[in-house]
Amino acid sequence: MRAVLAFIAVATVLPAQQQAARPWMNTALPPEQRAELVLQQLTLDEKLAFAHGNGMAHVPNWQMPLTHLANGGAGYVEGVARLGIPGLLISDAAYGVRDSGANGRYSTALPSNLGAASAWDVDSACAYGEVIGRELRAQGYDMTLGGGVNLAREPRNGRTFEYAGEDPLLAGTLVGSMMKCEQAQHVVGDIKHYALNDQETGRSGMNIVISRRAMQESDLLAFHIGISIANPGAVMCSYNRINGDYACENRYTLHDVLKTQWGYKGFVLSDWGGTHSTEKASAAGLDQEQPMAEFMGDKLKQAVEAGRVPMAEIDDHARRVLYALFASGVVDHPPQPGVVDVEKGLEVAQRIEEKSIVLLKNSASVLPIDTKRVHRIAVIGGHADVGMISGGGSAQVDPPGGNAIMPEGQGSTNWHDHVWFPTSPLKALRASLPDTAIEYNDGADPAAAARLAGSADLAIVFAYQWEAEDLDLPNLALPDGQEALIEQVAAANAHTVVVLESGTAVTMPWLGKVAAVVEAWYAGSAGHRALANVLTGTVNPSGKLALSFPATESDLPRATIAPLTPSTVHNAADISAADGSYAVPYHEGARVGYKWYETEHRRPLFAFGYGLSYTAFAYTGLQVDAAARAVTFTVKNTGKRAGAEIAEVYAAPPSGSDEPYKRLVGWKRVTLAAGESQTVTVPVDTRALQIFDEATESWSLPTGTYTVLVGAASDNTPLTAVLPLH
Ligand code: BGC
Repeated sequence: MRAVLAFIAVATVLPAQQQAARPWMNTALPPEQRAELVLQQLTLDEKLAFAHGNGMAHVPNWQMPLTHLANGGAGYVEGVARLGIPGLLISDAAYGVRDSGANGRYSTALPSNLGAASAWDVDSACAYGEVIGRELRAQGYDMTLGGGVNLAREPRNGRTFEYAGEDPLLAGTLVGSMMKCEQAQHVVGDIKHYALNDQETGRSGMNIVISRRAMQESDLLAFHIGISIANPGAVMCSYNRINGDYACENRYTLHDVLKTQWGYKGFVLSDWGGTHSTEKASAAGLDQEQPMAEFMGDKLKQAVEAGRVPMAEIDDHARRVLYALFASGVVDHPPQPGVVDVEKGLEVAQRIEEKSIVLLKNSASVLPIDTKRVHRIAVIGGHADVGMISGGGSAQVDPPGGNAIMPEGQGSTNWHDHVWFPTSPLKALRASLPDTAIEYNDGADPAAAARLAGSADLAIVFAYQWEAEDLDLPNLALPDGQEALIEQVAAANAHTVVVLESGTAVTMPWLGKVAAVVEAWYAGSAGHRALANVLTGTVNPSGKLALSFPATESDLPRATIAPLTPSTVHNAADISAADGSYAVPYHEGARVGYKWYETEHRRPLFAFGYGLSYTAFAYTGLQVDAAARAVTFTVKNTGKRAGAEIAEVYAAPPSGSDEPYKRLVGWKRVTLAAGESQTVTVPVDTRALQIFDEATESWSLPTGTYTVLVGAASDNTPLTAVLPLH
């Protein structure tokens, strides 16, 4: 008995002793103070270890002595074991944890980031982040490289699927909510790519030329909103230059805006290979070079010892990494490797996809499939018998069992291969409609596909548009002869439905010939089931576009992507500066997406915020409370089915403003039974209305009479009212 008591006494005393020796382990202290206490103990080498990576697993050119400790991930930063400070075990994780396959692990693929943004739902964004955070930890990681929030200025950008669309309030809110919940799982969050890395072509050579006002009111606003919601531990600076300086050595965006104006306390890490200098980058606010130590390893140490870089700067870099480790809870809750909760991940992925699918067209209510009328269905193309496509590059999540359509003769998947998940929509449809005859044709021979379609009551063409990091789309047309396939099938069957699996907008010269179009995005690990539920009406679609679909590329701010191909980067004609960069002037300024179409008087094919339902909604009774800066209105489900409506609130500045276009200032997802009404109040988020003054580097909200517009899409706002702001 005495022995037991003695043991208990020792057990309760030990932590207190430990705490005295390691006061930073006191969880009652704020993370800033805990970081400071550790910093005081660090040697110069320990501080400098926080300023660089240690290579990247699986990349032969990026190997360093400690790369083997990276857990198979994108990066590894040494901790301070003697003080109980863990290192950073970093994995890409945009729509799920990357690089699982090479490590023999399983990860859930959520719907693509752009897809999920179409749900306009902070709860879904949170659930998205939770799945990724949990799976990172289960796989032994404590830091994510997710959180893409670059605005969709250039829909041909090969990474559009990794971002959350074209509006700063929507994108910032959703990405912020995703990261907040991801970080709550005790992983260091990351928001990227800061900033204005809006296309892949020539991403390291391009110099974005844009006014400070325009960038503050557009792309930087999205980052600011995301950061203010999530307080992510890390911000990744991007490859491109901004007004002459690389984003990873840009004093204005890093030091002045991020760290000073916004008071950001976490650390800045470079995109992989995006560091270009030692002293300049360090002084500008880059805290950590990734994934190597070319500039912020020995060279940084020499610069400190020679007095060219002040010690205070090194302390600041290290303090920020320590802050991120404490604030995210990684120090107190290091990752617990274990079995990923596969079932939970699939359930969340399906629920989010069900809210994210956008019904773009549904003439004569051809959808949902009515089994009283439809007895034979022809499913055509898109490898629908095998699976659904996913987005590639560093966001790629590995499908269970490997690529469902392995490139011939390879036996494995390389960087720029199309990757298919084994999520067959054909099988899912057959499971949902057991009494319907569903036949498949692969579409390789459009005439044969049309014959099958002609013999069916309904034809469903599956069409894909693959995207990946490192590549842009030459245009937004469906590739690989799919346009012709759709036309031929539609000519054979008036009830033709097109299901799109795309990472961005699609142009649709065939639109008038088909009965219905369903945008399923890159649908994730349970996308086939979500899609079957929407097609059959078990789920009523409710997603709305987070980016405009142009009618033609010539309606975009740049008719062709700049520069035309990666090879033209090396053409003398495109090089506009002695340093070898080439300028890409953003003449559209802050007018991204719907703001551009509105001010240029161009009609998109489908506007920002657009999406149909199997029921209909009516908007009435708009009232404005200027003092509370909120609007109230009623949404009624006037149809015969339950459904959810995303009610959108826009505001336009007072007349005479030099930026007269309307902006999204709020929204609400409302779920209504058939015939039900709900009166909702939506606060007007004035961050979207503020003006940035370049002379004083400050914000103001112009007083005057604003116009509030409420409705179902950016181009469909039946309710308007005035909102005086003083
Ligand atoms: C991408 C980043 C990614 C990093 C590490 C870069 O090529 O731009 O988004 O996080 O690689 O994989």
